[in-house]
Amino acid sequence: MEGGFSSEEDAPKIACYTLTLAGYTPTTPCPTEASMLYTGICGGCHGDDGKGLGGTYPDLTQKHLLGIQKQIDASLAH
Ligand code: HEC
Repeated sequence: MEGGFSSEEDAPKIACYTLTLAGYTPTTPCPTEASMLYTGICGGCHGDDGKGLGGTYPDLTQKHLLGIQKQIDASLAH
């Protein structure tokens, strides 16, 4: 797997799962495959818990990234 690439279709699912790692409960529950996608594509660098690794890879659970929640809810609500 090329590092960090995901399809347009998978991106909102991954983002949704990232929100749950940050302790938020998305309005629309994440699809079941979301955690698998995150762990497979992103977890190798950002850690399976999203908290980053060794200071090199950013912590994805920081609150400033969470403004995207609205967009995710909108994109999952088909
Ligand atoms: C090959 C390792 C690698 C993979 C795989 C990877 N990332 Fe990253 N990511 C990084 C690094 C390194 C940075 C920091 C880049 C920088 O600061 O310029 C980063 C930055 C980010 C940031 C910005 C964080 C901030 O605080 O600015 C987000 C969000 C992010 N990645 C999400 C993801 C998601 C979602 C995935 C899976 C689709 C993913 N990354 C996969 C290495 C990776």
